[in-house]
Amino acid sequence: MTTHLTLRTSPPHQGGTPAVDLPAAGPQGQRTLLDRHGRVARDLRVSLTDRCNLRCTYCMPAEGLEWLPTEQSLSYTEVTRLIRIAVELLGIRQIRFTGGEPLLRRELAEIIAFTSALRTDEDKPVQTALTTNGLGLDKKAGKLHAAGLNRINISLDTIDAERYKTLTRRDRLKDVLAGIEAAIDAGLEPVKINAVVMPGVNEEDIVPLARYCLEQGAQLRFIEQMPLGPRDQWKRSEMVTAADILAHLQQEFSLTPAVEPRGSAPAALWEVAEYPGEHIGVIASVTHSFCGDCDRSRLTADGAIRNCLFANTETPLRELLRSGATDTELATAWAQAMWGKLPGHGIDDPGFLQPRRTMSAIGG
Ligand code: 5AD
Ligand code: SF4
Repeated sequence: MTTHLTLRTSPPHQGGTPAVDLPAAGPQGQRTLLDRHGRVARDLRVSLTDRCNLRCTYCMPAEGLEWLPTEQSLSYTEVTRLIRIAVELLGIRQIRFTGGEPLLRRELAEIIAFTSALRTDEDKPVQTALTTNGLGLDKKAGKLHAAGLNRINISLDTIDAERYKTLTRRDRLKDVLAGIEAAIDAGLEPVKINAVVMPGVNEEDIVPLARYCLEQGAQLRFIEQMPLGPRDQWKRSEMVTAADILAHLQQEFSLTPAVEPRGSAPAALWEVAEYPGEHIGVIASVTHSFCGDCDRSRLTADGAIRNCLFANTETPLRELLRSGATDTELATAWAQAMWGKLPGHGIDDPGFLQPRRTMSAIGG
């Protein structure tokens, strides 16, 4: 799955693509979300709300964003219908619920239960996952597990209470830590922790975060910051790279690649000699992008399909849904939106344009 990376010969063409471009499997009998570079999307990220109860400085302004009015967000009936179409008509096998903050969505457990009951094209249960900031999880972890949730990622960029307060503009570190413990206790294993590393903000947290997660038995994954937040907060020349993160970790721990590194890419998962059986992940989303292997499709809270986090166009399905479209018509519009997916995010290209929607409005 690397050859298509060299295929960037045609002009950008995300979103509306002529039907004539679709492969013979075509809109009618479409069984997968294939793109013109040969990738098949099996993983759907569904944003269940654009609202959030934190105000991470790298994500939003202090006053929050202009939230979607309720009538513009997909209802329970609408979102579950699109999930069913994705699984039954388009070959989606895994669904991750995101936000904003998905725990703020009242019907979350019901949506997870609905999704878990669907069967994939391989006649297996759909795998469900949740990306959350962990606030309120202490009260909900058991219910979500019972609803069929398979995997959970909790975002935590520092375990220093003061820095947490500065970074998220809310004094809630204790609540997140309680959420992490509750997730482990509820049997939602492996609990994964996502940490975004930002220059001058939380580099000194790299080692303490690693220690905390290794002690808890949670799987920590550091993620390179991508240009998706407030415009002035990301500079390619200043970003903390995966190599920088590894260098910090190697001052404290003996790391060996957990799996054979692929090509020139550094290993994403490292074994920690001091903690046998535990791993730390370092995700080089910018410096070694995995766009060539991307198998994701995204549905925003207001019902638009995005074929990439960085897409500059999207395909709205909400009006189609509300004007009485059939399942096949919706599936066809979705398949066409994916067909036009670009080969890569192009962050390093001179003409790179940051998408208008921020991460909280797209869903991570
Ligand atoms: N770059 C990388 N990760 C980000 N997240 C939010 N903004 C960015 C960014 N600019 C992470 C959050 C959360 C997940 C949804 O995405 O910290 O873990
Ligand atoms: Fe909320 Fe996530 Fe954005 Fe932080 S990064 S403000 S937790 S949506």
